[in-house]
Amino acid sequence: MPLPDPPPGTPGAAPSADADRAAPARPATTPAAPAAPAAPHGAASSGAIRRGVRSFVKRGGRITGAQERALAELWPRWGLEYEGPGHTLDLPRAFGRTAPRVLEIGFGDGDTLVQLAKLRPERDFLGIEVHPPGVGHCLLGIEREGLSNVRVMRHDAVEVLTHAIPDAAFDEVLVYFADPWPKKRHHKRRIVQPAFVALLARRTRPGGVLRLATDWQPYAEWMLEVLNASPCWRNRAPDGRYVPRPPERPVTKFERRGTRLGHLAHDLEFERRD
Ligand SMILES: C[S@@+](CC[C@H](N)C(=O)[O-])C[C@H]1O[C@@H](n2cnc3c(N)ncnc32)[C@H](O)[C@@H]1O
Repeated sequence: MPLPDPPPGTPGAAPSADADRAAPARPATTPAAPAAPAAPHGAASSGAIRRGVRSFVKRGGRITGAQERALAELWPRWGLEYEGPGHTLDLPRAFGRTAPRVLEIGFGDGDTLVQLAKLRPERDFLGIEVHPPGVGHCLLGIEREGLSNVRVMRHDAVEVLTHAIPDAAFDEVLVYFADPWPKKRHHKRRIVQPAFVALLARRTRPGGVLRLATDWQPYAEWMLEVLNASPCWRNRAPDGRYVPRPPERPVTKFERRGTRLGHLAHDLEFERRD
């Protein structure tokens, strides 16, 4: 797939039989009591997530015939609909089993999600992305690899996490090469914010891990500042800064482009405090 247009401001062991049997049950949401607000969990400065400020812009972008087919034909098997406030996802039902669960936010074309899911069949992977061609590309990868441990959502991850995900749902959360929004007036669009990392902490089990990577040095520093100030997360780097690149993390197209531009990728790793 061609690299999706960057948004304005972007520089630059086989799955269990049980999983196969029970997978397609949908909708996998349970009507819930009115969703709890994204309680900031002791977040630093800003209280709640700012409504109307999104970390993405709707991009047109080309969609291939294969991606369109994937969205039409493969979505019913691997896609999970976001049904709005009041509908909490039943993740064990969606995956057809209970297994350690990984969330990838903003998976782009989904190559990382597919590679990791193939590598770790004992884990379930939920990917959230707003860009339809990327979702289509990801669905094609899931089909090609015959994976049963991946589900995808096509919606704003902030809304999904706020309204549709139960507490302590994830063992691991991945935020790789999030849009850096380099201009100062756009910094409010950066997805890594005090309220957002507090929300992520609520949806991650105690002891769970948050991994981030970025090739935009000022955003890396911003992430460090936000996360090191959070009472919910403990930096696993001995010096309180960056960790070595995790060997399992695949190189993405966005990372390759950054490398061509001379940007160095930084990896961050935080553990959810009890
Ligand atoms: C710079 S790209 C990186 C994609 C991928 N992680 C990679 O490394 O190749 C950032 C992606 O995050 C997605 N994104 C941004 N904000 C999002 C949100 N709130 N919910 C879901 N996806 C989002 C964008 O659509 C875009 O595909």
